[in-house]
Amino acid sequence: MEFTFPPTFLWGTATAAHQVEGGNVYNDSWALEHAPGSPYVASSGDACDHYHRYADDIALLADLGFTLYRFSLEWSRIEPEEGEFSLAQLDHYRRVLACCHEHGLTPMVTFHHFSSPRWLAASGGWEAPETPARFARYCERAMAHLGDLIPFACTLNEVNLGPVLAAIGVAELRAFREAPWYAAAARAVGSDPARFTPFLYALSERGRDTILAAHRRGVEAIKAARGDCQVGLTAALQDIQAGPGGEEMAARLRRDINTVYLEAARGDDFVGVQIYSRLRVGPEGPLPPEEGVERTQMGYEFWPEALEAAIREAIAVAGVPVIVTENGLSTDDDTRRIAYVERALRGVAACLRDGLDVRGYTYWSALDNFEWALGYRPTFGLIAVDRRTQQRTVKPSARWLGAIARANGF
Ligand code: BGC
Repeated sequence: MEFTFPPTFLWGTATAAHQVEGGNVYNDSWALEHAPGSPYVASSGDACDHYHRYADDIALLADLGFTLYRFSLEWSRIEPEEGEFSLAQLDHYRRVLACCHEHGLTPMVTFHHFSSPRWLAASGGWEAPETPARFARYCERAMAHLGDLIPFACTLNEVNLGPVLAAIGVAELRAFREAPWYAAAARAVGSDPARFTPFLYALSERGRDTILAAHRRGVEAIKAARGDCQVGLTAALQDIQAGPGGEEMAARLRRDINTVYLEAARGDDFVGVQIYSRLRVGPEGPLPPEEGVERTQMGYEFWPEALEAAIREAIAVAGVPVIVTENGLSTDDDTRRIAYVERALRGVAACLRDGLDVRGYTYWSALDNFEWALGYRPTFGLIAVDRRTQQRTVKPSARWLGAIARANGF
């Protein structure tokens, strides 16, 4: 073998509740998807019906050779109205966790992965001063019911994604509060566009501070319930590279969308690194993909080396161990997925050779799933899903990565 990973290295794959579970009308994403004129190209609908099929999916991942399963709890199922907690839903997640343990998969639980209860978004969401305490109360209730089965926890997924998308210039985030579709979504949850603030729309400084305060309060709540639970946040990192004349802008962006959030991870048990590509920057801001560089289904560059850069930056700034909590490729050519992950893993190996503390690699995503505003078009999965029959088909990349996980090396 060319490289052997440390014996405790975790080999994971991930999902997020709203992207796979299906049928959830209690959260803000459903409202965003269904508003007239919405830029979301599809309803999440039944998604992968993972809510009912989790046992088969988890067994399949374990059979393939994975040792970690990262998934999220859906807050809106657990607390569908403020202060009203559902024991039946908590029991559901208890069964999912137990299933992971039965199959020898270490569960890593994300407490918030973009979607929020409607009532939360309606009343100011991720810019409201009460939100960190509300989030902590939900973490506390969930941990009281599930904590003995949760060894790893991510508080919030991609604490910086809103600002990242705004910096990259994603069209739907421009002047969204004035957009009729956004007003319609706000009204659908009994709110108004000035107050309605889903996670990815909390772009103000107040939004950033609210999200980071929620992380801190979440860590405290989780640790209070189970002191040995390993807790961290995850960040959507960008491998920011300066194009000609872009040094100053690159430094500014790096500070605003990477550094500030990595600094917030100082003192945590780990930081979750999530990265998909590089971001080239010119004097005015981000540059389009470079001529001649392969593109992914998402439109950005095929750039697996970004992972190594992100790990190094995360450790340098946050000063805590890294777990790669998401990395992957959207493609309909599975051979490119293998090529991408192989190069990304070489980057992880280079970091480990240099003595950096990297504790796991998690491929996004386990299943082809609901890619938010882009619906079901991008296919990141190691496992394909026929959404008519819900039949799963294992892709060669899943067997390839599972074999690396089993060998703990390549
Ligand atoms: C998110 C996932 C998303 C993935 C691929 C990350 O930003 O955590 O929910 O599906 O990237 O775009």
